[in-house]
Amino acid sequence: MTTATAPAALRLKVPYVASTIGRKVVMAVTGLVLFGFVLVHMIGNLTLYAGPEAMDGYSRFLHTFLHGGGLWIARVVLLTCAVLHVWSAASLTLDSWAARPVGYRLWKAKDSTYASRTMRWGGVILFLFIIFHILNLTLGHFDPGYVPGDVYANVVHAFRQWPVSVFYIVAMFALGLHLDHGVWSLFHTLGFSHPRYKRWLREAARGFAILLVVGNCSFPIAVLAGWVR
Ligand code: HEM
Repeated sequence: MTTATAPAALRLKVPYVASTIGRKVVMAVTGLVLFGFVLVHMIGNLTLYAGPEAMDGYSRFLHTFLHGGGLWIARVVLLTCAVLHVWSAASLTLDSWAARPVGYRLWKAKDSTYASRTMRWGGVILFLFIIFHILNLTLGHFDPGYVPGDVYANVVHAFRQWPVSVFYIVAMFALGLHLDHGVWSLFHTLGFSHPRYKRWLREAARGFAILLVVGNCSFPIAVLAGWVR
């Protein structure tokens, strides 16, 4: 009796979200929300190719949806997901380092892909990118000609500065690697890893990653090339 109840009692001391599997589920669900945002954001940014009226009109819609409340709801949801995503990733990383049976010098990557090994530093580059991106295109730092609401012109000004464009392109490659492994991994954590669909899901994750890298890199490249002015 006691042996049967003791493990259950012990398990209750650790809430589900704090357990290893709980934190993996938190990382997967928040990753899915953030991935959805990045995809929708890129599709919205395609309005750059339709000209200033389309892009500024799209931004106006986002800022006035639900009397401005829609944007704030999205911001709170995204920030919460970003914090939980970083928390789960960092705590799982620390746990795996603490449990590593061999010293770092002896450790060799096994059963891991280039993308999975770059998840951590890729995540750090993305974090720095998001801070820079918000300061740059939402708050108008680094651009004396920034005009709130003049989104098309602000984007063109930003990408005309080639170091800014290069930084965006590097960050988009980090995003691609992160998603290539992350999207596949989240399908797996959420239980969509039946052998019959495994290859298909792997290809789908790679396809989304490539789509996002190509779409997002096209914006700075189009401005630098003078196709969008
Ligand atoms: C080259 C690719 C990108 C372009 C051209 C772009 C463009 C923009 C623009 C113009 C805004 C301001 C929108 C407005 O004020 O209406 C914005 C905001 C934002 N972008 Fe991007 N973006 C890109 C990639 C990304 C990526 C990859 C992420 C996330 C990983 C991201 C996250 C955000 C966030 C969080 C905001 C702030 C939204 C807010 O609270 O106002 N963006 N972006």
